Amino acid sequence: MSQAPTDGYPADLLATVEDYLGTLDFGVDHRAARLTEAMRYSLLAGGKRIRPVLTLATARGRGADAHTVLPTAAALELIHTYSLIHDDLPAIDDDTLRRGRPTCHVAFGEDVAILAGDGLFAEAFSLVLTRQTGGCEAVLGALAEIAAATGVQGMVGGQYMDVAGEAAADDDLRTLHALKTGRLIQASVVCGALLTGAEDVEPYRAYAAELGLLFQIVDDILDETGAVDELGKSVGKDRALEKVTYVSRFGMERAAQLADEARDRAHTLLGELPADTADLAAVARFIHDRRR
Ligand code: IPE
Ligand code: IPE
Ligand code: MG
Ligand code: MG
Ligand code: MG
Repeated sequence: MSQAPTDGYPADLLATVEDYLGTLDFGVDHRAARLTEAMRYSLLAGGKRIRPVLTLATARGRGADAHTVLPTAAALELIHTYSLIHDDLPAIDDDTLRRGRPTCHVAFGEDVAILAGDGLFAEAFSLVLTRQTGGCEAVLGALAEIAAATGVQGMVGGQYMDVAGEAAADDDLRTLHALKTGRLIQASVVCGALLTGAEDVEPYRAYAAELGLLFQIVDDILDETGAVDELGKSVGKDRALEKVTYVSRFGMERAAQLADEARDRAHTLLGELPADTADLAAVARFIHDRRR
């Protein structure tokens, strides 16, 4: 995955994120050089940067300078990258290709990959605490949002339900998707709103919840229909590992319909935001139509 997304996806925000991530060096202790090399190897491999772009797009849509929320936006990408490194480990999805490169554990060994994920997680909080400007209440609010989105009621809880096969009913599958992927996407939008002084973040949360569900339905579809060279990761893994996904549960046709419905609901909810929603609408379209 080295190609930048196109089709109305806010390219200037993507470039801003990419530049900022490139400046992060995580310390200079030569004894930890291989650890920080592994962290940067996975981080700077050209992901789509959907989460930080959402934070910046939300801030800009509210009339703020997008650069003011960059530390928090970058922190969300660090956490997302940590989740990918751990998701790819032999004990979880056992994947060898990510963002067009050998996965972190293939390149650096499992021990270093586990620590690289842990390191990215901790450095994410450090980034917000040391570099995010704004009132204490707003910054603490963003930190609380990120911590909740990552924990048991968020990404890690969703990943557990995924590995444990805990999705007996259709509602459970929706919850699994909302937690493992949706919650961090939701936090990305909510942090952009919180840090730019939004008094009521619930309309932002509602839009982002649909976007997160849409994102993971499309991810499930692409695992069946995508091309390795476009996706930069392996395909057919969900079927091989007998994962419960929107495709395995509902079939391809219905999964595609459910993606359409989530996209439509996201666009309707965008209409309720007190903001310029052009960038957020473009991201929603991109997430629905993407091939990578
Ligand atoms: C993939 O996320 C993992 C999921 C949460 C389903 P992305 O598709 O956003 O991956 P990158 O960041 O572009 O590599
Ligand atoms: C992973 O979901 C979600 C997180 C990393 C939290 P998947 O296992 O479906 O992601 P891919 O398909 O490997 O990118
Ligand atoms: Mg997984
Ligand atoms: Mg996976
Ligand atoms: Mg997947």
